[in-house]
Amino acid sequence: MASVRFKNVNKWFGKSKVLHNINLEIKESEFVVLVGPSGCGKSTTLRLLAGLDDITEGDIYINDKIVNSLEPQHRNIAMVFQNYALYPHKNVQENIVFGLKRAKASKELIKNRLDKASIMLQLQDLLDRKPAQLSGGQRQRVAMGRAIVRDADVFLYDEPLSNLDAKLRSQMRYEIRRIHREYQTTSLYVTHDQVEAMTLGDRVVVMKDGFIEQEDSPMALYLKPKNIFVANFIGAPSMNILDATLYPGYIELENQRMPFDKHRVKKAIPSNGEQVKFGIRPDFFQDEQHISGSESLTTLKNVQVDIVEPLGYDREFNLKLGDQMLKARLDLRTEAQEGETINLCFDMNRAHVFDIESEKNLTLGI
Ligand SMILES: Nc1ncnc2c1ncn2[C@@H]1O[C@H](COP(=O)(O)OP(=O)(O)OP(=O)(O)O)[C@@H](O)[C@H]1O
Ligand SMILES: [Mg+2]
Repeated sequence: MASVRFKNVNKWFGKSKVLHNINLEIKESEFVVLVGPSGCGKSTTLRLLAGLDDITEGDIYINDKIVNSLEPQHRNIAMVFQNYALYPHKNVQENIVFGLKRAKASKELIKNRLDKASIMLQLQDLLDRKPAQLSGGQRQRVAMGRAIVRDADVFLYDEPLSNLDAKLRSQMRYEIRRIHREYQTTSLYVTHDQVEAMTLGDRVVVMKDGFIEQEDSPMALYLKPKNIFVANFIGAPSMNILDATLYPGYIELENQRMPFDKHRVKKAIPSNGEQVKFGIRPDFFQDEQHISGSESLTTLKNVQVDIVEPLGYDREFNLKLGDQMLKARLDLRTEAQEGETINLCFDMNRAHVFDIESEKNLTLGI
């Protein structure tokens, strides 16, 4: 087991800088997820830790030891890739134990580890098959098996589930959690899928253009995003980000005034108002007709229903408020049809106000 630390790490490819001053700690046994859009530097970050690319500036530590110039094979890291990288001519068993054999492990140890991993990953009946004779999910399990038998200090995963269909992804997410609970190996997991990030990570690091935007627990990212980028990226559907004007004591949205405690924002609000972005998650709206209890809620009136997308128990309502589009996730009880209007209630304490220039969250406590 190991801890990992990136200290002021910068990476250039020729003239382009792809990682900007990355500072990141992964504690022993922690499962950290790196998430961000394509090209933001996730794989590069993993490859630097694995030793597959050179660091331009800064240091990477494994257990307080700088590993910048240590060869990949001496870092005791196991990596699971998106394309599995299995040996096509070796069968499942040979693929799984290849690394152990190369490291000249004893026959007994190889057998023990193989047995344990194949039970864990339900590969017992597939050990003689070649990769070409396996489904995508089975290949993925072999790739995982190869990593877990190695008893590595750190597991790195680079979008390991992106080739799988939705059902298998969800199953494999569960397997990965189970493996982590069993082996407790320090892990860094890369994905651009925010659902994977939320469900797998003890901690999630959101990246954009080579910068770390925020690192936090999944729920903290969801409830307290530091800026509009994180608010948009985490949570599905994304947070509604609407043009609004903030005054001392209220906020105005498409000519509707709603009370807003001026002490909830970090800066002084001018009496003639300030343009802001108002953020509220689609999940936090309730249909006024189905409010339960006597919560003190704010109401957004006369919101026009544009398109309704059924998801099962919930439905995603695409709505119009003046010229602005927004979404609400409401349950089956809401019967409003396309073209009708509804009143939406929400708890203003769950809403955010963002600066229009810096896009930073101005809400206090974030
Ligand atoms: N070997 C390379 N030479 C030059 N540029 C590279 C190299 N590898 C990656 N890059 C660039 O570095 C940036 C970060 O790439 P990286 O592969 O880390 O992104 P990513 O976040 O993993 O994206 P994706 O989600 O698409 O896999 C990109 O702009 C990419 O084009
Ligand atoms: Mg990548």
